[in-house]
Amino acid sequence: MKRPTIDSKDYRDAMARYAGHVQIATTVHEGVRRGVTVTAACSVSDNPGTLLVCLNHSNPLNELFIQSGIFALNSLMAVHQPLAVAFSGLDHLDVDARFALAKWDTITTGAPTLVGAMAVFDCRLIEARPVATHTIMIGEVIGIRIGEPGPALLYMDRGYHTV
Ligand SMILES: Cc1cc2nc3c(=O)[nH]c(=O)nc-3n(C[C@H](O)[C@H](O)[C@H](O)COP(=O)(O)O)c2cc1C
Repeated sequence: MKRPTIDSKDYRDAMARYAGHVQIATTVHEGVRRGVTVTAACSVSDNPGTLLVCLNHSNPLNELFIQSGIFALNSLMAVHQPLAVAFSGLDHLDVDARFALAKWDTITTGAPTLVGAMAVFDCRLIEARPVATHTIMIGEVIGIRIGEPGPALLYMDRGYHTV
């Protein structure tokens, strides 16, 4: 029997209706930093605190997350839209110029954590599973920072929104 499939354009169009909180996943390995704007991230469990982030493994630069074994997930506020744009590569800034747009510190793992983020989850990578074009990175949260409440940055209908 022929395996049922769907058109990937239909999938993207349907997913465009899905509102996602915009976040920046960051890591550092042997002094090299990387940050990627993501919406494919969510909670897995609160005990122990566990979350997942899906990163496209066709981009060799994302290998740094696997090599380091650590990452932070920085949840963005509305004011962080320029950061989201920069870390999605749209401005073609180099890595130092991207990080220079904001203040960063560290919590537990040493991964760059955004000062003023809505929330920061600092993670130890416990599993990395490639599925289709992406690698699901599962992280145990070993450091956390809760920021000030305020409007969050979302992505929906192929554009930024705030809520
Ligand atoms: C709103 C938004 C959400 C994104 N979500 C993801 C995601 O969940 N996973 C992913 O691998 N890339 C995602 N991307 C694409 C990456 O941000 C982009 O490919 C990457 O930052 C390019 O980095 P580079 O210029 O350093 O190669 C998203 C981009 C945008 C604008």
